Amino acid sequence: MARKELIIVKLGGSLITYKDKPLTINLESIDVVSKALSKSDKPLILVHGGGSFGHYFANKYGLKTKPSKAPAEGVSKTRASMLRLNLEVLDCLNKYGIHPYSLSPYDFIKLPFKTMRELFISLIDCGLTPVTYGDVLLEPEGFYVLSGDKITKILSKALRPIRVIFLLSVDGIFRDLNQKNSLIKELKPEDLTNIQIKSMNMDVTGGMVLKLKEAIRIAQSGTDVMFINGTKEDRICKAMKGEILIGTLIRGIKNE
Ligand code: IPE
Repeated sequence: MARKELIIVKLGGSLITYKDKPLTINLESIDVVSKALSKSDKPLILVHGGGSFGHYFANKYGLKTKPSKAPAEGVSKTRASMLRLNLEVLDCLNKYGIHPYSLSPYDFIKLPFKTMRELFISLIDCGLTPVTYGDVLLEPEGFYVLSGDKITKILSKALRPIRVIFLLSVDGIFRDLNQKNSLIKELKPEDLTNIQIKSMNMDVTGGMVLKLKEAIRIAQSGTDVMFINGTKEDRICKAMKGEILIGTLIRGIKNE
């Protein structure tokens, strides 16, 4: 695989599920994304979020991003819901010939970067598309929710893709969500303090604010980050080629 070509795409939970309706999948969006991604010849790694699957149970049973003594029932249901959502995503990707290969974060998150990189590159070299997802993991102190955004950041550091694309249910990052014309074309890390961002209450992993923080860390490690509306096939296709029709860019900071 030509490593320089690699792209990591995060499918946001609010894109692939209806976030305000518990346990409801947005098959239409997953279809649009799968179709658009199938048109790209670039090697890909996909990460998806929890939306109204994982977040619904994580919220209901009080799971946190920090390890804690969570109820077994909640841990089990949250994890099962993520597996169910993952299977739906895999089915659709398969339909478009993307050959997804599902990995739980357990399979790689503790590996040294070199071994992690080798695992993902070997899968890609076999013609597969690694797909992973936010999940509930166990540490000695208890269970915790690891968000897809954090996983995306870790994979970016290990694999150094040419770009990371966050696919959202909206056009990008807005300065003010109530003002349609406030879409930010290019976001600089220092802008973060001036932006008013609302998150869904249900979101146990911190919503848009944390997403942006993770994205800025990715950019700080040298990778361009794009926020694109994942319901628009043409925008996804352009983004895969490195162009933004409508969306938000955070330029990777290159330390020469
Ligand atoms: C959440 O992943 C996973 C669980 C709740 C188990 P994310 O935090 O990446 O999900 P979205 O994209 O914000 O919905």
